[in-house]
Amino acid sequence: MKIFLDTANVAEIKTAASWGILDGVTTNPSLVAREGRDFKQTVLEICEIVDGPVSAEVISLEADKMVAEGNVFSAWHKNVIVKVPCTPDGLKATKILEGQGIKVNVTLVFSVNQVLLCAKAGASFISPFVGRLDDAGEDGMKMIAESVVLLKNYNYESQIIVASVRSLEHAKQAAILGAHIATIPFKILEQMTKHPLTDAGITKFLADWEKAKK
Ligand code: G3P
Repeated sequence: MKIFLDTANVAEIKTAASWGILDGVTTNPSLVAREGRDFKQTVLEICEIVDGPVSAEVISLEADKMVAEGNVFSAWHKNVIVKVPCTPDGLKATKILEGQGIKVNVTLVFSVNQVLLCAKAGASFISPFVGRLDDAGEDGMKMIAESVVLLKNYNYESQIIVASVRSLEHAKQAAILGAHIATIPFKILEQMTKHPLTDAGITKFLADWEKAKK
């Protein structure tokens, strides 16, 4: 499974990239606003750190304006993926942008039927939000399992990006269910590197080493 970082924080991206496990980055307007920096500058810096897909989200709601924004973003850097919301206009913009050779990530996806329509529109990436589905009393990971089957049934080339990842369990299940990608907040990615027995083991090894030297 590919691992993307779900952040617009350049320091976090540099750290995760230095671990050698980072395949891409997703941003959204909330994440960019949180950093309080220029959008284009931030996206360009991220593209220089990660040689993989970097999602930049449109603000427009009409298809023609999404396409115009998408054309601007994609001219910034070869790594930029245009993120559009899953609406009828978003699907229309996806079809047009993909037809122009511009890769699209359809976001705010909450149902398997939406996944089907995104795939039919030719989206390179489809982002179901598992955490927000769980918050709404639904089973986010069940939707991922069904979406993976759906894409396989018809050999769609769209890749699922499991988004709104809130826990280690979400990250693990994404991989077990065969999702192509999970986009993970830095705090959870950091937790994935750790286990208490790893720390305890290091302490014991070092103590034994010191004892043997005496
Ligand atoms: O990639 C989408 C993600 O940022 C949404 O996460 O935690 O705001 O639901 P969350």
